[in-house]
Parts: sequence; C-alpha cells; structure tokens
Amino acid sequence: MNLKAYIKRIPGINKLCTIRRFNREYSYDQSIFINNYSHSKKTKQKIGYNMLLITHSLEKGMGSKNPRRFGVSKTKELMKQMCEYEEYGQADKDYAFICAINALRSYIKFYEARGWEDTDEYREVKKFLSNYSNIAEMNVGSFIVEKSVLEADSKIDYKKFLASRHSVREFSTKKLCDEDFKKAVDIARLSPSACNRQMCKTYYVKNAKKAKTVIDAAQGFGGFEKDTINVIVVTFDTNANYFVGERNQGWFNAGLFSMNLVNALHSLGIGTCFCQFGNTSKEEEDLKKNLGIPESERIAVIIASGYYREKNTVLASPRKPVEDIFRIV
Ligand SMILES: Cc1cc2nc3c(=O)[nH]c(=O)nc-3n(C[C@H](O)[C@H](O)[C@H](O)COP(=O)(O)O)c2cc1C
Repeated sequence: MNLKAYIKRIPGINKLCTIRRFNREYSYDQSIFINNYSHSKKTKQKIGYNMLLITHSLEKGMGSKNPRRFGVSKTKELMKQMCEYEEYGQADKDYAFICAINALRSYIKFYEARGWEDTDEYREVKKFLSNYSNIAEMNVGSFIVEKSVLEADSKIDYKKFLASRHSVREFSTKKLCDEDFKKAVDIARLSPSACNRQMCKTYYVKNAKKAKTVIDAAQGFGGFEKDTINVIVVTFDTNANYFVGERNQGWFNAGLFSMNLVNALHSLGIGTCFCQFGNTSKEEEDLKKNLGIPESERIAVIIASGYYREKNTVLASPRKPVEDIFRIV
C-alpha cells in the first residue's frame, strides 16, 4: 500500500482534510474583509462609502416625523471625510461627493424651515457649503409620496411577470448589445441596498477569450449552449462594509441586485440563467485578475444571458407548496 492510500485509511483523516479546506476558504473571506472594510487602510473608495453611510444617516434624520436638532457630530464627520476625499482629486464629479454636498444642502434647508439657524451646526455647515456652490444638484433628504401614486405605479401583475421568467440555457446567436445591458443595469440600480451604499457592480464580459475563461472556471455551465452565452459577472465591494457584523452584507446585497438585474433583462426580452460561483479563493483571485476586477470586490454570481430564441427549452423546476415555506409566529 502506498503512503497516500495508507494516510487515507487513518480514521478521521477525511474530516481533518475537510476542516483544513474550509479553514483556508473562510480565512480568505476573512482576509479580504479585514484588508478592505471601512476601518482598514484609507482609500478614496472607502471614504466615499463612509460618506454615503453618513449621508444616509442624515437623510433618516430628515425623514423623521418629530425632528429635534440632529446631525451635530454626523455633519462634522461628513465634512471631515469630504475634505479627506477631496485630497484624492476630482471630487466634484463623483457621486459620493455630490450626494454628500446635497445632503448638507438639504440639512441647511431643513434647519431653516424650522428656524434653527442660530446653532453651531447650522453655521458650520453653511460656511462649509459656501465653497461648493458649483456642485451639481441632487435630490437628497426626504419627500412625501401620495398613496395614490404608490398604488397607481405598483398596479402590475407582478406574479404573472415573475412566473414568465425561466432560467434559459440557450440563447439567440445575436450578441447582447451594450445599450440593452446598460438599460438593465439602470433598472437594477433601483434595488435597495444597506444604508444606500450601493456596493454591487456588474461586468459584461464581452471579450470572447475572457468570457470563455469565466465559463471554464465556473462549475454550473453543463447543459448550456456555451457559444451563445453572454457572460455577466456580479460583484460587491467589501470597501463598503463597516463592521464585522456586515461580513455577509455584500452577498445579501448582491442577491437583491442580481435578482432585479435578471428581471430587468427579462423585461427587455433577454433570457438569463444564474450560474453559481462556488469556486475556490485561488480561482476567484485568478478570474478577478483576468477580468481586471479590483481586489476588494468579491464575485457573487455569474449570469449567462442572451436574447430569447423563438422556442426556449426550460426546466419545470416546480416550487414547494406555499404552506411549506411559511409560518405565522
Ligand atoms: C444562485 C443561483 C445559482 C444557480 N446556479 C446554477 C448553475 O450553476 N447552473 C444552472 O444550470 N442553473 C443554476 N441556477 C438556476 C436554477 O437551477 C434555477 O433558478 C431553478 O431551477 C429554478 O428555475 P427557474 O429559474 O427557471 O425558475 C442557479 C440559480 C440561482 C438562484
């Protein structure tokens, strides 16, 4: 018996190997998170996400029913972060910066509407803003939506729409055009995200050689007509994550975003099939390098996509009875 076969017969050795493999992958998750989350080394992106976090917090203050003076430390912190952000250059064209400026503008209006001008926070923010009158306007803060508007705009047969989507694994030979991809992303960006940090990104891998690398790397493409697939990769940026409790935040946000992206594509006549990215950390690293995806981003899922054919073979994939998946507690 050779050494390998002998080792394999040692009781518990399989479990030990499994634990070792799991540890390696979990350590990778941990190291990406620790190296990139909010409290790691400062980068422009990270400050941008922190600014979005504070902006969101100020928005919540402005959405409060019974507001008191608020945002004293938050506005100070935001202005500090904005100054740091500016040091990286070209801040005035960046979404996070424009958003933050407009949060402060709304804050000033909010204070003025309540006659709170005689406060330090009002004066400080007002003075800060005087240097940024050239920054674009953006709607930040809160507003009232009539019930009639909510009802009118949501009156669609949502179940019918959802039921009309099926995973398809073969597509038309027509290449997915950039405009349609952009249209779908434009819809998917309406997805909710934790503290409105919008940490998901999506890549349409148009380069045939790179697309093949993705298809070869992912495991779930069996049974697909591979030549017809347009590859989309959905990622999230760990720069957006704020504390250890957010270690799974990106995965969850990417799930919400991806589902809306897939539905948006469907609404545009484009079929899709999710393809799980169950790859090792090493494979993920290699793929990210190949596609030029930054180190701080994690690959959440691959989406095979393409225009529908006249006839599409889909799986029935029956759903569990509704009673099986809910309890009223
Ligand atoms: C996260 C996720 C990963 C998936 N991965 C694969 C995959 O690797 N290969 C595949 O053929 N289908 C994959 N699917 C598609 C499922 O098989 C499919 O959604 C399910 O059978 C329900 O069918 P439907 O999408 O047509 O409603 C995946 C779906 C999800 C949501």
